[in-house]
Amino acid sequence: MNSITTHAAGMAVLVAALFALVPVSGCTDWIKAVFYIDHMETENRTSRMHVERIVDALSLEPGEIAADIGAGSGLFTRKMAERVRPGGTVYAVDINRKLLAHIGKTSGDLPIRTVLAGEDDPKLPAKVDLIFLCDTLHYIDKPAYYVGRMASHLGPGGRIAVIDFIRNWPPMSNRFTVDELKAWMKSAGLEVAREFDFVEDEFFIMFVKK
Ligand SMILES: C[S@@+](CC[C@H](N)C(=O)[O-])C[C@H]1O[C@@H](n2cnc3c(N)ncnc32)[C@H](O)[C@@H]1O
Repeated sequence: MNSITTHAAGMAVLVAALFALVPVSGCTDWIKAVFYIDHMETENRTSRMHVERIVDALSLEPGEIAADIGAGSGLFTRKMAERVRPGGTVYAVDINRKLLAHIGKTSGDLPIRTVLAGEDDPKLPAKVDLIFLCDTLHYIDKPAYYVGRMASHLGPGGRIAVIDFIRNWPPMSNRFTVDELKAWMKSAGLEVAREFDFVEDEFFIMFVKK
């Protein structure tokens, strides 16, 4: 293990401990926000994720309305917003107010609206054409219920794209299998439209509502 990997592993353990020990408060929001802003957009992660290729695969069109649930630092939100111009909007959805404030500050003139979600409800203010979740569903306690909540915000032909881990899950993950995800989607009226395999250690599946 080199020193960068050791440092990253040490940070992950420290943050996991802090996440577990500090009660839910503005203080935890702040700690998590500092961590995500520092870690989500490193060169290592963006090249491992193939960010541009992921956003290409979402096939967003000008004028579409999309939601990035668990938007984090806004890495994908900003790139998605570039694709829906003119006329479209991307909702940056997160439970962390500090991250939403960061996205607000770093959005420039992009068509991004921040939405404060509840733990079990994305609280989207309108119907959307596409919902995107990257490395987020494993933080949600009732994923089957949550998939149903998301589906209620889509019309026929609406899409949900999910990227999450196959292995090397982060600490405190609610792990699930691809088969479980497909079953939750099926119950919510969605079928697999396409599966991609270019994200290392993660699956990437596009579902469409019938
Ligand atoms: C690992 S980060 C991923 C950020 C971003 N999607 C990316 O890939 O760069 C997970 C994000 O999910 C958010 N999150 C956790 N639980 C959530 C929930 N129940 N609803 C919405 N967002 C949630 C966290 O605050 C965090 O911003």
